[in-house]
Amino acid sequence: MTTPNSLNGKFIVLDGPDGCGKSTQAHLLAEWIRAQGLDAVGFRDPGDTAVGEKIRDILLDPEHIALGPRAELLLYMAARAQLWEEKIAPALASGACVVMDRWVSSTCAYQGCAGGLGIQTVLRIAADSLERTWPDLTIVLDVDEAAAAARMNRQLDRMEQKGRQYHQKVRQGYLELARNYDAVVHLDATVSIEALHDQVIAAVRSRFAADKS
Ligand code: TMP
Repeated sequence: MTTPNSLNGKFIVLDGPDGCGKSTQAHLLAEWIRAQGLDAVGFRDPGDTAVGEKIRDILLDPEHIALGPRAELLLYMAARAQLWEEKIAPALASGACVVMDRWVSSTCAYQGCAGGLGIQTVLRIAADSLERTWPDLTIVLDVDEAAAAARMNRQLDRMEQKGRQYHQKVRQGYLELARNYDAVVHLDATVSIEALHDQVIAAVRSRFAADKS
């Protein structure tokens, strides 16, 4: 079982293709951590700083059709660097558990795998741009296209509009990360919100069970 204090100062990321339900699960995980009597804060990447929200608007505006994967990568990285400095680093330093909605794993899957820049290129640029590339745990919520599409019954943003082939490669990118990195686990996200929440908690308990901090 997880010793309660083992989540203090931990950096956990929920990630996955558009429509996988990660924002809901990130929110539920943060609530669960608070219910254990610990401090938890949640942020979305890109966003949650004044500069980050403007960068987010640029990235997601369907009018910016000329924006290529290299510029995308640098913009996502810039928003992230700012979020780290303004919000994440102080929260971790205060002992809170930080629960992220996306992180570098998204750039690996989208710009690296689907955008063709390569996962290793993304990781190299992340290492040079950020104080921290890898969280303590990344939970990838895996959904097939049909399940994802059923959850996105609204107007699509620029990234969501990229088409079927692109999004198939995004999913493959996430699965590749889960295969190659121990601190990246993937869960079947086609189940109910409650069942998935239970699986997220189990993954968190299992990852941090050995921690005595
Ligand atoms: P969101 O809708 O989950 O907040 O994410 C915004 C969009 O940006 C989503 O389509 C995924 C995409 N994205 C990337 O392409 N690269 C990244 O590094 C991140 C963080 C998000």
